[in-house]
Amino acid sequence: VESSTRLTWTGASKSLAETPRPVDANKGRFGHVLVVGGSYGKAGAPAMASLAALRTGAGLVTAAVPTGVLDTVAHIAPELMTVPLAEGALGAVSFKQLYGGKLDTLLKRITVVALGPGLSTEGDAPAFARQMIEKTSQPIVVDADALNALAGKTNLLDGSRRTLVLTPHPGEMARLVGMTVQEVEADRLRLARSFATKHQLTLVLKGWRTLVAHPDGRVAVNTSGNPAMAKGGSGDILTGIVAAMLAQYPDDPAQAVESAVYLHGLAGDFAAHAMDEHTVLATDTVKYLSDAFRYRS
Ligand code: APR
Ligand code: MG
Repeated sequence: VESSTRLTWTGASKSLAETPRPVDANKGRFGHVLVVGGSYGKAGAPAMASLAALRTGAGLVTAAVPTGVLDTVAHIAPELMTVPLAEGALGAVSFKQLYGGKLDTLLKRITVVALGPGLSTEGDAPAFARQMIEKTSQPIVVDADALNALAGKTNLLDGSRRTLVLTPHPGEMARLVGMTVQEVEADRLRLARSFATKHQLTLVLKGWRTLVAHPDGRVAVNTSGNPAMAKGGSGDILTGIVAAMLAQYPDDPAQAVESAVYLHGLAGDFAAHAMDEHTVLATDTVKYLSDAFRYRS
């Protein structure tokens, strides 16, 4: 094996999560996360991502969701702000109606965008997701249906110099690169690394032993997490944690993402220990984030 193709990896750590918050800090220091997603029937996804971002320590969190689900999403926490997106013809958000409106003004004050949870693939939603990627300049976490909107269009990811983090599960990764899930799973490390270096982004390839592949070719393997997390919503929680860590630690995005992935799994481990692998819900893992932050190995 040639040295250029040798696959090396390290374990993900949560070192950044152990940094104390400066005593004189105000909320401006910890960034403003904008969660963009949601659709009729999928209000929980952006709500959970927002809740996780709040609990991870972002200074402010706003959810931009279609008007029809806005009140439902807002209910997850009184600390959450919301901004309405117009409903497209099929219940999805319409970029054309929105960009240049409220969202445009709001984006100027946003530190990190988390795009995709619950977005749907209906109507204008995929086009809206692509426009969000093209027209924003902040660090962005791309998840769920925003990833599906990029299937066969990964060239849209190239050339942006901001921090770009993709969080596919193996199914989303397969769609993104036009492979089967089996092919993705058979070659996770190599595939993650080549995708991250080719597109100069951070790829979080989820599943048991989530991989964090950095644009420079380094790959971290996550050792936390358990099958209690193999339930709908776990990925949405991760998206919120990643966005909030990036908002708080903009100077070290690589460590922010690794710490987020490790914290997410560790919170799931504490939840499974306190409850049971069967009964833990994704929102329960958020309750155990305190234990994850406080844990010293
Ligand atoms: N061990 C460790 N971690 C696990 C395990 C396991 N056995 N099973 C799942 N996880 C973690 C993954 O690593 C990931 O962080 O739980 C999370 C699951 O994320 P997703 O697969 O995105 O799951 P989910 O929240 O259900 O997504 C909901 O969004 O991505 C779309 O199509 C997806 O409809 C689905 C929806
Ligand atoms: Mg998901």
